[in-house]
Amino acid sequence: MKIAITGAGGQLGYDLKRVLIPMHEVIAWNKEQLDITNEQEVAQMLLAARPEVVIHSAAYTNVDKAEMESERAYEVNAMGALHIAKACEEIGAKLVYVSTDYVFDGTKGAPYTEADTPNPSNVYGHSKLLGEKFVSLSCSKHFIVRTSWLYGKHGTNFVTKVIEKALAGGPLTIVDDQWGSPTYCLDLAIFLRELIDTELYGLYHASNEGECSRYEFAQQILLAAGLSQVSLLPVLTSDCPPAPAVRPMYSAFAHQAIANNGLTPLRDWQSALHFFLQLDYYDPALLKKKV
Ligand SMILES: NC(=O)c1ccc[n+]([C@@H]2O[C@H](COP(=O)([O-])OP(=O)(O)OC[C@H]3O[C@@H](n4cnc5c(N)ncnc54)[C@H](OP(=O)(O)O)[C@@H]3O)[C@@H](O)[C@H]2O)c1
Repeated sequence: MKIAITGAGGQLGYDLKRVLIPMHEVIAWNKEQLDITNEQEVAQMLLAARPEVVIHSAAYTNVDKAEMESERAYEVNAMGALHIAKACEEIGAKLVYVSTDYVFDGTKGAPYTEADTPNPSNVYGHSKLLGEKFVSLSCSKHFIVRTSWLYGKHGTNFVTKVIEKALAGGPLTIVDDQWGSPTYCLDLAIFLRELIDTELYGLYHASNEGECSRYEFAQQILLAAGLSQVSLLPVLTSDCPPAPAVRPMYSAFAHQAIANNGLTPLRDWQSALHFFLQLDYYDPALLKKKV
């Protein structure tokens, strides 16, 4: 298949390229090559390339900054998605829109299913939800795939930040009352590769299986990286300086659409994390410490 990726310079974009290039013809657009806020450019590029599938992973992802730059966040996450969706409809392409657990307010207290009603509590979540609505209204062949707590080889994320702090000697203080489902970008990319080969359109929750608190996640990161001697202390969110954006306290996913459609579930979050840190992630400082 001919597949176009937006936001190809990002964390998920990197793993999408790794997973798709060996099997498909891939057009990978980073921000410099395709600015999704430019409607005319989006239409022209998609019309010229005529991919059969577009994986739209470009986004404004700085959750705290979005509170101060809300206009820009809506421009990228909502209007950008609309431009892509309209162009996909025009050329008859399938569209994958990657969305977020932050569309939920975190008050459910049990894993969120695709049937739950979103109620975002920050600008980022609201702008992504608007993107979802634009996609579902403007492109008939759409997959909306919500994911959460992404980490991968390319980019800065919770895993790389924990390792960086631990290598600096710690101690680390991590919140023990925010719960979610970590997701290894490579596993998500493999899931998306399977999904785009189908016509099982609709809404999906896709994360690694299971859930944990940020503190438990950090514990496993230190263990898998061979850094469990570093001191790690649990704290409450209410004991930390307030961040500009309110985060859902609980946003773990149930994966009903994956199960109902007979698709392959992502592996459990602990196995994914150990695989990532032992076989995929490379940090010279960490390697030096181990040798
Ligand atoms: N990271 C997470 O924990 C998480 C959780 C749930 C869902 N998601 C969703 O998953 C998707 C992938 O996230 P990620 O972690 O890979 O994010 P990322 O690393 O920030 O990648 C997003 C990419 O989009 C690019 N971009 C920003 N504005 C653009 C524009 N106007 N036109 C074209 N490209 C633009 C960014 O470029 P610059 O960096 O140069 O701005 C960046 O390369 C996003 O849709 C995100 O909302 C992420």
